[in-house]
Amino acid sequence: MPANSPVTASTCAPEPFLGFGLGLRTQHFQQVLEQSPAVDWFEVVSENFMVAGGKPRYFLRAIGERYPLVMHGVSLSIGSADPLNFDYLKRLKRLAEEVQPAWISDHLCWTGVDGRTSHDLLPLPYAEEVVDHVVERVRRVQDFLGRQLLLENVSSYLTFAEQSMAEWEFIAEVCARADCLMLLDINNVYVSARNHGFDARDYIDYLDPARVQQFHLAGHSDYGDYVIDTHDHDVPHPVWQLYRHALRRFGPVSTLIERDDNIPALPEMIEELDMARQIYAEECAAGAACAP
Ligand SMILES: [Fe+2]
Repeated sequence: MPANSPVTASTCAPEPFLGFGLGLRTQHFQQVLEQSPAVDWFEVVSENFMVAGGKPRYFLRAIGERYPLVMHGVSLSIGSADPLNFDYLKRLKRLAEEVQPAWISDHLCWTGVDGRTSHDLLPLPYAEEVVDHVVERVRRVQDFLGRQLLLENVSSYLTFAEQSMAEWEFIAEVCARADCLMLLDINNVYVSARNHGFDARDYIDYLDPARVQQFHLAGHSDYGDYVIDTHDHDVPHPVWQLYRHALRRFGPVSTLIERDDNIPALPEMIEELDMARQIYAEECAAGAACAP
C-alpha cells in the first residue's frame, strides 16, 4: 500500500454548516410535524419520494417548509460499468427542483451490472483506471444536475486483487479530479479500518477538508474478527472517538445520525444527536475550528 502522504489541505470544511441532523424516517413524520423537535436539518432518501403525490410527498413538503433538507440517494451506481441511468437522473433532478435541498449525495460504489441490481452498495477496486471511469461519470452527473455532488465512502469487507491504491487515496483523487464533495461516513471508515487492519485516523488525516461537506455517524455489529455496517445500533464509543478526531481535522461539518433499522423513538434519536452536539462543543472549547 502506498505511503500515507496527506494532500495539501485548506483549513476549513466547505459551507454551509447546517448543524446537527437526522435521517427522516416514516415512523417519525407525524411527530416531526406536530412537535417541531430540536433537529437542525433532515436528510431524506431520494428514492423514497420519487413518486409524485401521496402521503410521503405531503410530509416531505410540510417538513421542508420548516427544516433544511438534503437528498441522499442509493441508486446512482456511479462506479458501475453500465451506462448512467438518465431516467433516474431526470427523476432525481425533478425531485430536487421541488425539494430545493441544500445538497444531493449518493455513494462512491456500484450497485449492479448488466441491468441487474444487487440492492447493495458494493465497493470498487481502488485503482487509477477506476478513478478515470468514476471521474468522467461524476462530471456528467454534475453537469446534468447543475450542481456539485457529494459522494459517500462505503464500508467494505474484502480487497480486490486489482487494488493499487488505498481507499482514502482513491476517494481524494476522485473528489479532486471530478471537483465533487464528500459525505464522510465515520462509522464506515471505522468498519473498514477494523476489517482491513488500517488506522482509521490515517484515512481521515489524508482527506482535504475543503472537500468534506457532511458526516454520517452510525452504529454497526461487531463480531470480533470482523465488523458489519448494519446501522441498527446506537453510535458506539470508538465511532464517537473517531468523530472527535474528524472534528479536529475538518472543523465544523454538518453532522447526521444515520439509523436504518431497529429505529428508536424520536426522543431517543435526539438524545444521540445531543451527544454529537456536546462532543462538538467540547472539541470547540479544546481548540478545534468551529462555526461562528
Ligand atoms: Fe452512511
